[in-house]
Amino acid sequence: MRNFWLLSLLSASVFADEPSPQRQQELINLLKHDCGSCHGLPPKGGLGPSLMPDALAPKTDAMLIEVIQKGRAGTAMPPWQDFLSITETAWLVEKLRQAE
Ligand code: HEC
Repeated sequence: MRNFWLLSLLSASVFADEPSPQRQQELINLLKHDCGSCHGLPPKGGLGPSLMPDALAPKTDAMLIEVIQKGRAGTAMPPWQDFLSITETAWLVEKLRQAE
């Protein structure tokens, strides 16, 4: 049940609010400069795997948010929880899913 709880928590915070327009711009910059340095720009893959919509389609929001927040131990994927709130991370995942 722990996952279920986490999911409700996530959806609650996702729908509660979204980042301010200025913060959205900062997040887009982070995506290009920081994430892009490993995942590519557009993020078709490099050191890290592709983050293009087709690659993300089979993956759940909960899993993607978790990896971005916590990183993936034993790999180059660092944790971003000190820089990104869960709401901001969810917003970024949504952006990645919508990218052309
Ligand atoms: C220093 C390099 C590096 C940076 C910077 C980085 N990543 Fe990663 N990322 C990786 C690697 C390597 C993996 C693959 C980990 C593995 O082998 O499971 C990964 C995995 C992921 C995954 C999981 C993909 C999947 O299919 O399982 C997501 C989502 C992700 N990164 C998003 C991001 C986002 C968003 C950012 C910027 C906030 C970011 N990454 C920054 C290296 C990086």
